[in-house]
Order: sequence, then structure tokens, then C-alpha cells
Amino acid sequence: MQQTGWLTGFAVVLAVSIGLVGRAQGPRGQQVALPEGEGKALVEAACAQCHGLNLVANSYGHTAEGWRTTFASMVALPTAQAATVASYLATHFPPKPAPEPVLLNGPAKISIREWLVPTLGSRPHDPLAAADGSIWWTGQFASTLGRVDPKTGTMREYALPDASGPHGLVEDRSGHVWYTGISKNYIGSLDPASGTVKEYPLPEDVRGPHTPIFDQAGTLWFTLQSGHVGRLVPSTGEITVKGTPSAGTYPYGIAVNSKGVPWYVDFRGNRLGHVDPATMTITEHTLPHADARPRRIAISPDDAVWYTDYTRGYLGRFDPATGQAREWRSPGGATSQPYGIAAARGAIWYSESGVRPNTLVRFDPSTESFQTWTIPSGGGVVRHMMATASGNLVLACSGVNRVALVEISG
Ligand code: HEC
Repeated sequence: MQQTGWLTGFAVVLAVSIGLVGRAQGPRGQQVALPEGEGKALVEAACAQCHGLNLVANSYGHTAEGWRTTFASMVALPTAQAATVASYLATHFPPKPAPEPVLLNGPAKISIREWLVPTLGSRPHDPLAAADGSIWWTGQFASTLGRVDPKTGTMREYALPDASGPHGLVEDRSGHVWYTGISKNYIGSLDPASGTVKEYPLPEDVRGPHTPIFDQAGTLWFTLQSGHVGRLVPSTGEITVKGTPSAGTYPYGIAVNSKGVPWYVDFRGNRLGHVDPATMTITEHTLPHADARPRRIAISPDDAVWYTDYTRGYLGRFDPATGQAREWRSPGGATSQPYGIAAARGAIWYSESGVRPNTLVRFDPSTESFQTWTIPSGGGVVRHMMATASGNLVLACSGVNRVALVEISG
């Protein structure tokens, strides 16, 4: 009876978050039949609430300890149930072979600290290094923004309008946090002092505000999944969107160079683009390899454009002055899926999301050499990273529901 009582209370709590997740994302996955065994009913009760059990059945699999860590980032189970669930899952869904990280030594020294964010299953998509030293994240599946003070570990989450699905985020000069509500098609700004949110709805013929970035003049630029780049002027709230010259594009990562020119990568083609900030005319640049699918972008102080080629497993550098691109094969190889990237301390840093655990990679452009580390939590796909003012890095570790601070020395 005691167990039934617990399960009922548990289901009620989850019903609230299913509402959010369901409305934000539509039904996710399918409910599949699980193998018989002790723990099956518990898994059905605890895991099918937020997503289909096919996500569990088709996953990479884990050891019992690995399963415990994985689901502890999504749901808090009492100790006895957690042990039963972990043992059931490890028996029926053991680890599948996955590409292993290639570890390379080098001159840099780093330490990585990670924080599990309070709302389980919220999946921090993007991180933000704020001017006051705090780390912010978008809780995409819970429609929250969160903040941690790395000095004290104090965390706070802010509720956003239901079904926002916050994706990317940036800070303005007054400390307000602007984000893309990818599921509800708006740009939002949060005043952390009051918790008040302002919504700027997008025109109905565009969709999927993705990654935001401020230019030096305080204008907000953002990519859209519908094949557009947008501009929002915070002083007037005016929004302008512009379609890319090619059809069927997916503008993804975006960065602004030292001259105030936004550059973006197109995740659906072998191309980059830049936007004339005055006219919003978009110019596309073709990358040499037809299969290249650049996903994230970083601009180094010399205004070179760096990109992670997710599909081919390469790091690329595009020189806007010559129109030439150079590429280096990522240490983890063709299936390493390079993803989040940033420039810091004269080097380029990115994560390989296709190897388990995920890596942090450092590339030194002067020696053209790589150095790599594994991310302690496994990373769970690091979709974005950002340099702090002092040249460290913040990471969002989506699948393990964490944010990380990488402190760099040497
Ligand atoms: C509070 C909501 C919530 C609960 C409860 C939950 N999950 Fe998840 N889980 C998520 C979300 C959100 C995703 C990402 C779904 C997507 O990408 O469509 C996810 C994805 C997964 C994945 C896919 C691999 C990955 O990490 O991306 C696995 C495996 C998984 N969950 C296992 C479990 C198990 C096992 C349980 C029960 C013990 C569980 N989940 C309960 C929210 C939850």
C-alpha cells in the first residue's frame, strides 16, 4: 500500500510537467513494450510520463551506475526503487559499443566543475556566462531560465510562459537575459530582479527562433529554423526578418565579428552566411566539401570564422578576407560530431558529442595541434559553450541536466 501511495503522489507531480513538455514539444517518442523482469512496472510508472519508452529501449544503454546517473537527472526516485530500476535497465539495456574519445596531451591545464540543475529533465540547451560571473542556462524542456553562482553554488530558476521551450540566451548591458522561445515563436527578455518576462512575438510566417546574439550597438540578432535571420531593436521592440538566398536552409549558430557583422552557419548545407547589419542583405559562402554541415560557430579576435562540421567530424576555419576554408579532422574522427564551440585565450575550444564520454577539445591555431579531455559527467551532448570575460568557458550539458565551468590555466 505504501508503494501505491508513493506512485500516486509521484504521478500527480509529473502530470504538471507533462503538461508543459507535451504542449511545448508534442508527444515525444512512442510507448513500446519492455522485457519482463523485476522493475518493469516501476520503469513504466517513472519513465513513460515525460517521453516514450522507446527512448529508453533505443538508447546507448548503460551500466547500472550509468543508468542511475542518467535517470537521476530526469526523475528523483526513492533509493530502493532507484536500485531496482537501475538493475532492471542495466540487465536489459546494457551499454552498446560507442565511439571512444581520443585523448591527447598538451600544454593547457584545465579543471571542470559541474552543477546538476534543480528541475530534473529540464535539459539545459545553451549556457550564458554573465558579466557578474554567474552562469545561466535555458531549461528547454521545463520552460525555465536558471542561474548558478559558481562561488557559492547557489541556484535559482525563473519560470517562463508555458511551452516557451527556451533555446538560446544572451545578456544585455543592464543584466536582462534575452532568450529565444523556440516552441512558442517569440523572443523573450527576463528582468532577473523582478522575474518579469517581456514577450516579443515573431511574425506568423517564420518559425523556430534559435540562437540569439547582441552586436556592439546592442541590437539583437538571431537565427530561425525556417531559414531566416532576424533582428530585434530592444529600444523600440521592432523586429525584422530576412530569408536566406538559398531555399531549405537551417541557420544555426550565430556570432558577431569585431566590425559588428553577424555570421551564421547553415546546418542544412555546406555554407556559411553573413548579414549586412545596415541593409540586412545576406551573403552566403560555400564550404569546399559538399557534405559539410557546420552546426556552431566562433569568431577569433582576427575575425576568422571557425565552425564545427558535425556531420563529417572536422573543425573548420573560414577566412572572410580570402574566401578560403581550411579544415582539420577532429581527434575523435568521422563520427565524433563536433558541436558547441568558442574562442578563448588564443585557442579554439569545442566539444565532440558523438564520443562517449563527450570531450572538450582545444585547438591551437599557431601550432595546429589538438589537446583533449573528457567531461566528468559524460557531457550528454554539449550543444553550446561560451567564453567568460576572464577567458574561461561555460558549457551546457543537456542530456545530463548540468551546466559546467571550465577553468583554464597554463
Ligand atoms: C521529468 C521528465 C522526465 C522523466 C520523468 C524521465 N525523463 Fe528521460 N528524458 C526527459 C527528456 C526531456 C528527454 C529528452 C527527450 C527528447 O529529446 O525528445 C529524455 C530522454 C531520455 C533518454 C534518451 C537519451 C538521452 O539522454 O537523451 C533516456 C535513455 C531516458 N530519457 C531515460 C529515462 C528513464 C530510464 C527514466 C525513468 C527512470 C526517465 N527517462 C524519466 C525527461 C524525463
